Amino acid sequence: MHKYIDLRSDTVTVPTDAMKDMSFSAMLGDDVYGDDPTVNKLEKFTANLLGKEAALFVPSGTFGNQLALLTHTLRGDEVIVASNSHILIDEVAAASVIAGVQLRTFTLQDGNRLPMNEINSLYRLEDIHFPNTGLICLENAISNGKIIPLEDMKELRAWATNKNVPIHLDGARLFNAAIAMGVEAREIAAQVDSVNVCLSKGLCAPIGSILVGNKKFIDKARKNRKLMGGGMRQAGIIAAPALYAIEYMTSRLKEDHDLAKYMAQRLSKIPRIDVNIDDVHINMVFFSMDLGDVSEDDLIGQLATKKIKINGSEDGMFRFVTHNDIDKSDVDLVVDMLQEILA
Ligand SMILES: Cc1ncc(COP(=O)(O)O)c(C=O)c1O
Repeated sequence: MHKYIDLRSDTVTVPTDAMKDMSFSAMLGDDVYGDDPTVNKLEKFTANLLGKEAALFVPSGTFGNQLALLTHTLRGDEVIVASNSHILIDEVAAASVIAGVQLRTFTLQDGNRLPMNEINSLYRLEDIHFPNTGLICLENAISNGKIIPLEDMKELRAWATNKNVPIHLDGARLFNAAIAMGVEAREIAAQVDSVNVCLSKGLCAPIGSILVGNKKFIDKARKNRKLMGGGMRQAGIIAAPALYAIEYMTSRLKEDHDLAKYMAQRLSKIPRIDVNIDDVHINMVFFSMDLGDVSEDDLIGQLATKKIKINGSEDGMFRFVTHNDIDKSDVDLVVDMLQEILA
């Protein structure tokens, strides 16, 4: 039976056989007591790799981001985020429920540049009417498929140091960003106080994210993780494939990026599809499609009969994501199908 060609996200990746083997043979202990050697190894490895003092294994990307907000801020603080950020749009208003903070937004210029003047104008402190700016959050790579250039992050870092405001990075796709920028992930991490990295997206681990920062921050986050119900016991069983993911799966992300560019090039040749190849920085292709008489539900249904899964459009744009379980022949099949449906 042919597998599904699932272009909805890189979250759909399944662990490789090597990862499953790692799970079965992992050394285990009670991680709430700090006794799980595999979790400890993962945390140490990641902290070293990203040039930070400490790391903390958490169940998901949303968990890691919201834990960072809770740990950096005081209740009633204001957190500055981009208007299209995952923390604002896709985390079920958790910032207001868990950290009890207010989110205030800036708009990325050209979809990926930091508007320093706007960010500066949003900053506020010590007025009886105002909340205090407690944190700035960035996302890199951005879930619109682009990367924020390192020089923009450096400029923000200098500004934030001057204002004494910490920066948290939603690095769900940190390694994709590093590859697209041609820098080491630690250079990106150096521009922020904490980073949350997802291991269960393009890196193919079944479960988990990891939050890194200085020791004081991670010690506090460890206690907050317990408060949030994220103190996991023999967590080595999931930390083992996560460790494999971060040790061995980061370099192959370039293949996903190259395949996304290839897909964009092929899609661009279809007259009723509009795609900007220059916007493909990572493993995501965004495009609009003139479906004519075909309804979107029909399109999704027709593709499903060929075992192709896609999401519906958002704001008029479709998003196709490449990953470890997609190869060139899958992309060719999908593009050929679209061509046929649109003809
Ligand atoms: C940019 C970004 N941040 C955070 C998350 C949240 O990760 P999780 O689904 O593991 O909670 C996602 C998930 O797709 C994401 O794309």
